[in-house]
Order: sequence, then structure tokens, then C-alpha cells
Amino acid sequence: MKSYPLAQPEITKEDRIAVNEVLKTAHLSRGPQVLAFENKFKEMAQSNYASSVSSGTAGLIIALQALGVSQGDEVITVSFTVPATVNSIIAVGANPKMVDIETQTLGMCPQALKQAITKKTKAIIVVHAFGKAAKILEIIAIANKAGIAVIEDACEAIGNKLKNKPLGSFADIGVFAFYPNKQITSGEGGMLVTNNKSLHQKFELLKNHGRSMNGDLYDQVSFGWNFRLSDINAALGHSQIKRLKQIIEKRKKITEHYQQHLDNTDGITLPQFSPQENTSAWFVYVVLIKNPDLIKEKMTQSNIQCGRYFSPVHLQPFYKKLFPQLKLIQTERIANKTLALPFYTQLTAKDIAFISNTLLNCMN
Ligand SMILES: Cc1ncc(COP(=O)(O)O)c(C=O)c1O
Repeated sequence: MKSYPLAQPEITKEDRIAVNEVLKTAHLSRGPQVLAFENKFKEMAQSNYASSVSSGTAGLIIALQALGVSQGDEVITVSFTVPATVNSIIAVGANPKMVDIETQTLGMCPQALKQAITKKTKAIIVVHAFGKAAKILEIIAIANKAGIAVIEDACEAIGNKLKNKPLGSFADIGVFAFYPNKQITSGEGGMLVTNNKSLHQKFELLKNHGRSMNGDLYDQVSFGWNFRLSDINAALGHSQIKRLKQIIEKRKKITEHYQQHLDNTDGITLPQFSPQENTSAWFVYVVLIKNPDLIKEKMTQSNIQCGRYFSPVHLQPFYKKLFPQLKLIQTERIANKTLALPFYTQLTAKDIAFISNTLLNCMN
């Protein structure tokens, strides 16, 4: 019986050649592919600067540090995300404050944000869940009024646009990730984008041991990590981003096939972009359904892997100990219903018919 993973990267002959070419050179890191990937990415993201890093998590940590977030500061974010978003705040010594989402976008609730801002709030991390735009314009307006910086965690939103502007390019900093389940992959990797030159210079220092070139030598001028992306990874990322439009088109077709089979079905709510978003660049295809754990188990028996996105961060054992009283009504209500279906470009119309019919059978 054919098996269906939840996600799968699309690796072409061109991707393999691009990676192999790097292996023939002496530049396995800090070579021309890093620059080529960054240049192509900043064009896609319509941003002045792009800085590659070793992961989305590294990008979030550096973004916070470049904004000067440190010990004792508060950073407001959501719990309806992967732990990495909140872990990055802990990593820089700051205190995460998780607020609720709203049901239209599954992103941060602007009202909840307003209520959470205090004198200690230094930054806000907005997550575009599953690739769908959060209410970023409203959130930025609130943040500007309060003089607080905003980071867009656009790790899941590569290629989506709101009002014709790429997600990740609205806030002070946008952070992306390229794990193999993402719209495009570099194996592991991440990217920071900004229009602010000084922030970009900080990213470059922070990701490279705090070192700056002084003639032929390096001076260590700030604190820093090794969060560099290798040329091997960058070559794959660069080769993939050249096909981003085609990849998104293919993903759009898959959403259309799912819609064809599952739309207007009692008991299933399909994900939807707002009319202001103009692509179908979903990261994962998440439906809302009753008893998702039971259905996931039944689907596994037909070799169909489903996922539970997201398991709220504040309910994870580590964070539950830190925030035992925290209750986020919408986050918990939505998370109780989410089921991610297999979603990758290699799926055929026949595959989706099979997956959809199996899902419908599992619901009976
Ligand atoms: C919303 C979000 N933020 C952050 C990350 C972290 O990215 P990485 O796994 O590359 O560190 C991910 C990746 O799964 C993500 O989906």
C-alpha cells in the first residue's frame, strides 16, 4: 500500500547539481552561494537586506539581540506556534508573554496584544501560522504607538503576500526558515530580512562570532555566535528559490483538489486565505475537525500521516511549569480541532482523492 508522509521536499536534478558544484570548490562555507541565495531572497521578500543563518531559531535569537532585547525585558508573542518562537525569547534572557489568537487569521489577537503591553515590553513576535497572514498591519500600528519593535516570524510564510507585499517585509525584521517541510528548503537554514542597515550589520556580526573585517584581520567587536549558513545549504536554497513560483503554483493546485473533495462537508472546516492574500502558499494544510487525535490514528492505519499543528506552547511541560495559570481560550479551542493533512508537490489528484475519501470514511 502506498504511504503518504505529512511533508516531503521537492528535490530536482538541478538542486543536486547545484549542491555537487559546491563540493567541487574550496568554499564549503562563506562562499558565493551564500551571497547568491541572500540576493535572490531579498528580491523575493522585497527587502533591502537579507542575512542567511543556520536555522529559523537562530534567526529569531539574532533578531531579538539586534533589537537589544535582554534580561528582564518582556517580549509578547503567541502560544499557537512551534516552541522555537518562545524558546528564542528565553534564549536571550527575556520573559515571554504569550497572548491569545483570534479565529479569523489564527494569528495574534490585536486586542489581547494591547492589553499585554507594559513598560517592560521591548518587542513583539508575530507568527503567520501555517503561512496565513496575521493581522500584521493592525499589530504594527499598535506597536508603533507604543514605541515597540516588531519581528515577523514568517518561518511558515515563504512566498505569501498580503496586499501584494511579501509577508516578512512588513515589520522591523522578518525571519524565515528552510527545514525540509517548508515551501522551499536548504536542508536546515534561515533568513533575516530588514530595510534597516544598522540592524542588518548587527545580524552579520551576531551570526559570525561578533567579528568584523579589519584589513586582512578580524576584530571581534561584539558578542556573537556561529549561526552561519554553509555554502552547501545555501546552494540548495538558492536553487529552490528560483522555483518558488512554480512550487507555490503546484501547492495551490493541491489545495484546490482538497477543496474539491472536502468543501461543504459537515464537520470539516477547510483553511482559507483572505481575499487580500494572493497566493496559496500554505506551509501545512490544516483542517478543523472533531476528534483529530482519533482521526489521525485511523488515517495512520491507511498509511496516511497526519499532524497536530500546533500543540500550544503554554501547555508543553516546560512552559506549563513556568506559566501554570495561563489559559488562552481561543488557542486551546482551535488547537483541539486541528489536523494537518499530507501536503507536498508530488501529490497527484488521485492521491488527494484517496486521502480525502479516507478522511471522510474515518469521520463516520
Ligand atoms: C513558526 C515557526 N517559527 C520558528 C521555526 C523554527 O525554525 P527552525 O526549525 O529552522 O529553527 C519554525 C520551524 O518549524 C516555525 O514553523
